[in-house]
Amino acid sequence: MTPLVQAPRDQLGRQPGDLRISVTDRCNLRCRYCMPREKFGSDHAFLPREQLLSFEEIYRVVWAAHRLGVRRVRLTGGEPLLRRDLPHLIELLNGLPDLELALTTNGTLLAEQATALAEAGLDRVTVSLDSLDDTTFRDMTDSAASVSEVLAGIDAARSAGLGPIKINTVVRRGRNCHTTLELARYFKTSGITIRFIEYMDVGRTNRWRREEVVPSAQLVETIDAVFKLEPVEPAFPGEVARRYRYADGEGEVGFISSVTQPFCGQCTRLRLSSEGQLYTCLFAERGTDLKGPLRDGLDDEGIVDLLASVWRRRSDRYSEQRSSVRGSTQPIEMSYIGG
Ligand code: GTP
Ligand code: 5AD
Ligand code: SF4
Ligand code: SF4
Repeated sequence: MTPLVQAPRDQLGRQPGDLRISVTDRCNLRCRYCMPREKFGSDHAFLPREQLLSFEEIYRVVWAAHRLGVRRVRLTGGEPLLRRDLPHLIELLNGLPDLELALTTNGTLLAEQATALAEAGLDRVTVSLDSLDDTTFRDMTDSAASVSEVLAGIDAARSAGLGPIKINTVVRRGRNCHTTLELARYFKTSGITIRFIEYMDVGRTNRWRREEVVPSAQLVETIDAVFKLEPVEPAFPGEVARRYRYADGEGEVGFISSVTQPFCGQCTRLRLSSEGQLYTCLFAERGTDLKGPLRDGLDDEGIVDLLASVWRRRSDRYSEQRSSVRGSTQPIEMSYIGG
């Protein structure tokens, strides 16, 4: 294996550690906070196939990121399980040493794909699930999908050994916050960690309002009143979720509080869009095109240099600056850049 190149530091001294890859901009759900139907209706133009990075192109970018020290890769979307032959990409990436490979999915197609994903070498999955109540779930996802499909997907992932499994729940005041305690209760004894995520102002289409954000501190209080919670030390610097264990010894719960407690200081994430743009922040307005150079014959060392130079210029800390810059920026959609 080619030795690690000196890991670059960005303008704030951070080094690259994670790469999140959106493998498709399509999704079979229309969560109102992510792909509102008014903007992502039947006439929406998704990327044509030839504009998506091929698996070989994605592999080359991951190989280069790995040289720079990236050891965690997450496949996202849109809904990544809509990308044809995804296990083939996983097989390719699995050839890189010491790399943790995870996937974030809405779970609706997981029951049929979990075994193939595990056999290809996927390590673990995170499943998005905003409520156990079908009416609330359908309101959040603006779809006719049902909670039972997602739960079947979670079961299949567990049977296939895709663990530890995590659940992501975006919380919106007035929409699903009345069902969060039920979710916490359900997953408490399951060996699966649920993380409640503060609704974020990502993208330009979801008409985010701060009043709809339920601060994590409030949720901690609500859950703690029923099941006593104890804070857990972060497993590594820059861990996104703040974790708590249940004092009775049964299970853990996490909170991702990008609005009330931003975690940019240790942010080691790079993002690759399905179209091959490289972004250094979830709230970025612009990326760096990698597809052009890849298709024009840039060699492997050239890709490493390009990634390193983008990283060195990086000074992103949007969540920490939100109150002063919000409204003056035009961030890319999350389904495009990867959640
Ligand atoms: P693991 O704990 O290793 O599973 O990864 P993680 O904590 O990054 O979790 P995951 O990848 O599932 O991300 C959970 C959610 O946190 C995402 O869906 C986003 O809503 C939010 N999130 C993840 N990364 C960022 C980030 O860089 N910035 C902000 N503001 N939010 C993020
Ligand atoms: N705020 C917070 N989380 C979001 N996600 C998508 N859009 C938002 C938003 N506006 C989360 C989803 C999923 C992951 C892909 O990103 O719940 O877990
Ligand atoms: Fe699809 Fe996930 Fe976005 Fe919902 S949050 S619309 S499931 S990509
Ligand atoms: Fe990282 Fe940008 Fe998220 Fe801050 S807002 S944690 S810099 S991705």
